[in-house]
Amino acid sequence: MTVSKGLKYRFDLSDGFCREDFQDSLSENGFAVLESVISKELCADTLLRIEKIAEQLNSEHRKLGLPADSGLAFIPALMSFDPHFFQFLEIPELLETAEFWLGKDGILRNQFAQFVEPQKSEHEERLIFHRFHRNFRHLLDAPKVCLDSTLVLSDMTERNGCIYMLPGSHKCGLPRGIEELQSQAVEITAKAGSAIFLDGMTWHREEHNFTDEKLVLLNHQFTRPIIKQYFDFPRLLPESSLSNLPERSKELLGFNSRVPSTLSEFFMGASSEALRRKNCGTESHWVLQS
Ligand SMILES: [Fe+2]
Repeated sequence: MTVSKGLKYRFDLSDGFCREDFQDSLSENGFAVLESVISKELCADTLLRIEKIAEQLNSEHRKLGLPADSGLAFIPALMSFDPHFFQFLEIPELLETAEFWLGKDGILRNQFAQFVEPQKSEHEERLIFHRFHRNFRHLLDAPKVCLDSTLVLSDMTERNGCIYMLPGSHKCGLPRGIEELQSQAVEITAKAGSAIFLDGMTWHREEHNFTDEKLVLLNHQFTRPIIKQYFDFPRLLPESSLSNLPERSKELLGFNSRVPSTLSEFFMGASSEALRRKNCGTESHWVLQS
């Protein structure tokens, strides 16, 4: 496999942003960085809220007799802890990019905080994400099925957990000797407030964090609706938090792509075009009205 450096991949919303160039870059490279997507204030507020949720989870783990920090490299379904996290489903650049990549029916597979902790020792074993990998490994060679949108909440530098991407690799087959391609990889750093978009098929690896402070990222993984979500969000999220949500946010959460839970729902859906979404790529893709 050979990859090329491809097109420009870094764009800034606040500086002569050209949507077409950005989309071309994402198509060609399989990734793109968009700066100035959220404000520094929103980054700081969100960081504090994630820390608070982490403390709450740690405390619950301790009560259960589990070691503190166990399982906290990721915190999923942040919206279920704090309604603050619903607002990220309304960020126009996230929505537009997900729609460009996956079509109008794209849904949110998961929203999660990711902690890139300081490297504990120089000899720390490389985990899967430190080696070249694809984020969406369930299907081979199926670009435009999954899009990761990573919001960078504090500056991502070459020292604290940057990402190495192989441009154009979302269009390649299974590579051999991929570790040898490091020299062709592009080092991705990003200022706080940026979004890093990445097709689920793009080969990349996350570098260790060589500093003393952890890096916190807020990820939104979007997929086509035939892919299972991490959670049944319509059941997970409290009714009270959903009443004022925009229709588009509900669609992203999977409200229009649930499967029937009873035979009567199945037959009701089949008898009414109004209950059935078109162009969703699966016969078992229904709108269930509550
Ligand atoms: Fe990854």
